[in-house]
Amino acid sequence: MIFKTILFLPIFIFELVMFKLFKIKNSQYSHSTMVNLFCISGGWTNRLINFFLKKKKIGNINNIINDKEKNFFENEGYLIKKKFLDIHFIQNFLRELNSLEGYWDGDNCINDKKEKLGIDIKSTKFFYKSDDLVNLKCVKELLLNKSIIDSARELLDSEPIINNVSCWHSFVSKEPDKQAAQLWHFDMERPKWIKIFFFLTNCNSKNGPHCFISKTHKVGGIPKRLRMLGYKRLDNELVESTLNKDLIKEIICEKGAIVFEDTSGLHKGKQLLEGHRTIFQIEFATSMFGGLIDKIKINKDNDIVSRFNSEIKNGDYIFQNFQLKKDK
Ligand SMILES: [Fe+2]
Repeated sequence: MIFKTILFLPIFIFELVMFKLFKIKNSQYSHSTMVNLFCISGGWTNRLINFFLKKKKIGNINNIINDKEKNFFENEGYLIKKKFLDIHFIQNFLRELNSLEGYWDGDNCINDKKEKLGIDIKSTKFFYKSDDLVNLKCVKELLLNKSIIDSARELLDSEPIINNVSCWHSFVSKEPDKQAAQLWHFDMERPKWIKIFFFLTNCNSKNGPHCFISKTHKVGGIPKRLRMLGYKRLDNELVESTLNKDLIKEIICEKGAIVFEDTSGLHKGKQLLEGHRTIFQIEFATSMFGGLIDKIKINKDNDIVSRFNSEIKNGDYIFQNFQLKKDK
């Protein structure tokens, strides 16, 4: 890892500067070098890259995070806000999801057919594509919600960019599912980001609570012996025997709650023993440097385009990862 990092370091620095000056997207070599630098340094390289690339925040108005909560997030790496979504909104959201086609996913699943979620449970996870989600009225309302954008702005201490929009249902499985992120791991697609999980179903200890290891988002928070294993899913027993068990948090909450999380810390979805769980997620990043992803495609008649220009301050910047679909 160290030899490879030194070898690609000149390309990484060149591409970092090109991205900063001319917004030229980096190659996969720079992304893997960023990940390797994280593993070697424990995270201070991400702080440096973020400082170099982030856009200064332009103030916040509707921030729902108070100072105490912000401190908690910075110390622990996550924050739960109860009763953010009301029951009618959740009912409408689930109704809209029922009309949408998605894909089954999981370790023993090779199903790449787009289909509606039926009563036949074929794998551990059923997810929707972001290009489809952005057509839903409830999704548009959340993406354009000023208090959510302002909270991301505050917790990132930077202008936020919507990096990803996703939604999935999780189901019972015999073993923890690697593909469905049920093993401990850290994310590392951008220099800095925050994920917001919106709980659309109640979540108790048996239907797959999201789990996070407190303080592992901090510089050096993930022990070196785990980091040096690289950017991959980690063995549950190894992680749990390496870190203090008291730091492992199972996030149990009622539907309507939202959870802010810095997923550079160790996290996973716990294997479901009964029931199911539905989560919608928005990811905000401070820059698009890093992993190579397709932009979120939006139909020309989707009113979210005009709305993010007219309703959202700095909308062009925040929605820069959205792209109008080309005419066929
Ligand atoms: Fe993850």
